[in-house]
Amino acid sequence: MNHSPSSTLHSPLRIGVFDSGLGGLTVLQAILKQIKGVEVFYIADTKNAPYGEKTPQQILDFSLAITRYFVSHYNIDVLVVACNTATSAAIATLRQEFPTLLIVGTEPALKPAIEQSRSAKVGVLATPATLKGDKYQSLADRLSTHKEVRLYEQACAGLVEHIENNTLESKESLTLLEGWLAPMREAGVDTIVLGCTHYPLAKEVITSVMGKEICLLDSGEAIAKRVLSLIAQKGHTNEGKNSVTLLCTGTIEKEMVERILSLPIETINLLPHE
Ligand code: DGL
Repeated sequence: MNHSPSSTLHSPLRIGVFDSGLGGLTVLQAILKQIKGVEVFYIADTKNAPYGEKTPQQILDFSLAITRYFVSHYNIDVLVVACNTATSAAIATLRQEFPTLLIVGTEPALKPAIEQSRSAKVGVLATPATLKGDKYQSLADRLSTHKEVRLYEQACAGLVEHIENNTLESKESLTLLEGWLAPMREAGVDTIVLGCTHYPLAKEVITSVMGKEICLLDSGEAIAKRVLSLIAQKGHTNEGKNSVTLLCTGTIEKEMVERILSLPIETINLLPHE
């Protein structure tokens, strides 16, 4: 394997971030806010999206292929799996296969949600694959023993497509969201975990259905903090400019990428289809 051990990081440090599409940009946004002096490579695997409706084996295969690509083409120091679904299906294998990479995954922000909920009724929106995965199940089991809490879990099949296609405001999308959120609204849920990195992009419409008092929690800031703490331990000084290279296996709306990142993006290279 042709990458440096994590004790000798590149300067500037190289971070690979991936997701099935636009969702991981919500994590990248948080990373760019907190971390300076890094080269970031982002892969949107839009050819294979949505991950949340694929099998664990398929999601693992996509994640391995992307990580191999990052390592062979960019010799990354850090891998951020900016996707709850891929973290659930692949993080253990990625850690085994790439032992010298610093790897940070994404988990639903269940812990802070349970801690801060006053009604002790917490909603969880995630992809079908994340909610079915052992990782989420054991997290939920472990945390609910700490505090008496009722979880309202909802798999949102179809929401990622609405976000990717910019059709969140459509009647079809609103009907879906209203149906998913109605039981939470009726039960008095006060906090909702956005357990998919795409869902922060739907915050406005979720708030419009739930009311503005609802607290929506995602994992972006916590991930950026974790990455910063890991690289600081390796001597990263956190100063200087960042650069961002965006790659995509299918198609992606450049304007949407720029809007999410509040950055002009020069080119989006297409990865050769594997
Ligand atoms: N954004 C991803 C997640 O956090 C994947 C969504 C999908 O492709 O279904 O789960």
